[in-house]
Amino acid sequence: MPETVPERRAIPKERSQTCPFDPPATLRELRTQDPVCPVAMADGSSGWLLTRHEDVHAVLGDHRRFSSRGELRNSALDGQVTAARPARPGEINSVDPPEHTRLRRKLAGKFTTSRMAQLSERIAGIVDDALDTMELLGPPVDLVEAFASPIPSLVICELLGVDYAERAEFQERTKAMLTLGASADQFMAAVEEMTGYVTKLVVAKRARPTDDVLSNLAADEELTTEEVSRMGLALLAAGHETTAHMLALGTFALLRNPDQLAALRADPDLVNGAVEELLRYLTIAQYGAERSATEDVEVGGRLIRRGDVVVPALMAANRDPERFGDPDVLDVTRQAAGHVAFGFGIHQCLGQQLARVELRIGYKALFQRFPTLRLAVPPEDVPLRTDSITYGLARLPVTWDAVGL
Ligand code: HEM
Repeated sequence: MPETVPERRAIPKERSQTCPFDPPATLRELRTQDPVCPVAMADGSSGWLLTRHEDVHAVLGDHRRFSSRGELRNSALDGQVTAARPARPGEINSVDPPEHTRLRRKLAGKFTTSRMAQLSERIAGIVDDALDTMELLGPPVDLVEAFASPIPSLVICELLGVDYAERAEFQERTKAMLTLGASADQFMAAVEEMTGYVTKLVVAKRARPTDDVLSNLAADEELTTEEVSRMGLALLAAGHETTAHMLALGTFALLRNPDQLAALRADPDLVNGAVEELLRYLTIAQYGAERSATEDVEVGGRLIRRGDVVVPALMAANRDPERFGDPDVLDVTRQAAGHVAFGFGIHQCLGQQLARVELRIGYKALFQRFPTLRLAVPPEDVPLRTDSITYGLARLPVTWDAVGL
């Protein structure tokens, strides 16, 4: 295999305000011209950007040759703070087996499809409360603030077992942790503060267990308090912003594709398939599934050296015409199974069933409650959030006909 000394390009992140649902245009070009493309990582190390579904699948499915170990990982996005540092106890997404298997086993049973189905009634209640508040506020409202953000936050509180009285504080702290534009130091300070807060909760749960995920984990003598706290924080961080962005961006996408919204309204049973298609079409986890090669390995005809970082562009894989016909079309009746919006392999999203339940209930109830929901500003004025690992909207101003709701 010939060895190349490639020129390394920056990782494409640019989104277009005119096509806010499409991945950066460069990714499409790369998929045909250079599908395993040399890139410069934020810390200057060697990286490879994968844009074909087949290659992304192969790498994420091979955890032996492509490691998730914290100290080897690099962030795809400038300014993000995941660059080289060791994984800390309980950081499930930054460890390989056997440690990963041990942690994942502790959590997996708490996020099964049946457990999530049991939670649906509570989620429906939380969604209804948010819709009631929107109605009370009256149009126009910012859907991110009134709907997309509070729902996953309250659901996570419910799951972890955060008291009602403490929820406002909890939400404030989460917001601080997820605030963008902060420097690496500010971000790490917010994470540490939040870890301290979750640790207090874990200690309290150990003393007075209640019926929730954090109490269950805290009661497990094989897990240390630090591990449980960092697992709790991972659930919080991974579970909040992702689902919030999907709720807002998915609503925006449906409002911009009125035929698809009409199909969904005409047959609400399409919602499960519509959620899969929105997950594929929007692929909000832009990056964040980086791996590093544990040995020299060939991917798509390129030699990847041991220690090199591999960056699967999930959003490009999900628009690969080799895998999905007419990939750039949103089609709520499509069989979108096989998308990699939740990743693939042993690290595939632990909270995917929870996210699905929140999205199905959320979209269905929103469009039922507000049949005349529409944008309150021209679409090009809807502010995008591109500076985060997960893509989304900063605000989504919407309005509706309040009379005769
Ligand atoms: C992992 C996406 C919601 C918890 C992942 C990964 C992706 C992802 C792409 C794989 C990362 C990798 O391979 O390195 C999403 C999206 C969501 C969502 C698009 C919403 C639409 C959630 C929720 C939770 C959650 C609601 C929990 C409450 C996790 C955890 C992991 C993970 C703990 C790490 C799993 C492991 O390393 O074994 N997610 N996620 N996610 N997600 Fe999600």
